Amino acid sequence: MKKIVILISGRGSNLQAILSAQLPCSIAAVISNRADAEGLAIAQQHGIATRVVPHRDYADRASFDAALAQVIDSYQPDLLVLAGFMRILTAEFVNHYTGKLINIHPSLLPAYTGMNTHERALHDGVKIHGCTVHFVTPDLDHGPIIIQAAVPVLSHDNAQTLAERVLREEHRIYAQAIRWLCTDQVTLNAQGKVISNRPEHADTALVAPHME
Ligand code: GRF
Repeated sequence: MKKIVILISGRGSNLQAILSAQLPCSIAAVISNRADAEGLAIAQQHGIATRVVPHRDYADRASFDAALAQVIDSYQPDLLVLAGFMRILTAEFVNHYTGKLINIHPSLLPAYTGMNTHERALHDGVKIHGCTVHFVTPDLDHGPIIIQAAVPVLSHDNAQTLAERVLREEHRIYAQAIRWLCTDQVTLNAQGKVISNRPEHADTALVAPHME
């Protein structure tokens, strides 16, 4: 069974969804850069080891990432899952975990990289928004895409209602992506392309607003 380590910074709703999905992998540890991350309690309730590596204890990004990697590597994970981990990682760290490091981002990448994705989607008036699970590369929010979910943007939406609709899909697709990776149904090849054995369907579409 593959071993995973999950990194969080906050409330941990994606962590909760991953735990609820009862995936065919063992979760070796949940690690946070913040001692007050609510998600740590979720992990503890499930009997999962938790560790805190406070970024403020380190002079710079490189020394924080080195300390973080040392803690992660003590668990020898097959997969490293960023679930609301709010630190930018150095290229050195990212390259150390090539093909093993995944992230969830609250937009349909490559649109809306970075922060405030829901506000920016509303500002632009897009009718479809969503979320993406991708392998992490040194190019922030640009790694090879594993799975995406799209949701309609409604006329009365604000950033919070839109975030909630996207978050429901985050919880579904992150657990799904981890299941595929843990069962070798999806991998990253040496050329940096996602290889998948998943069936595809040409005749599905989300149209928003709804057509008659
Ligand atoms: C999610 O929206 C995720 O996409 C983003 O940060 C949020 C984390 O939420 N990177 P949670 O801590 O999993 O509840």
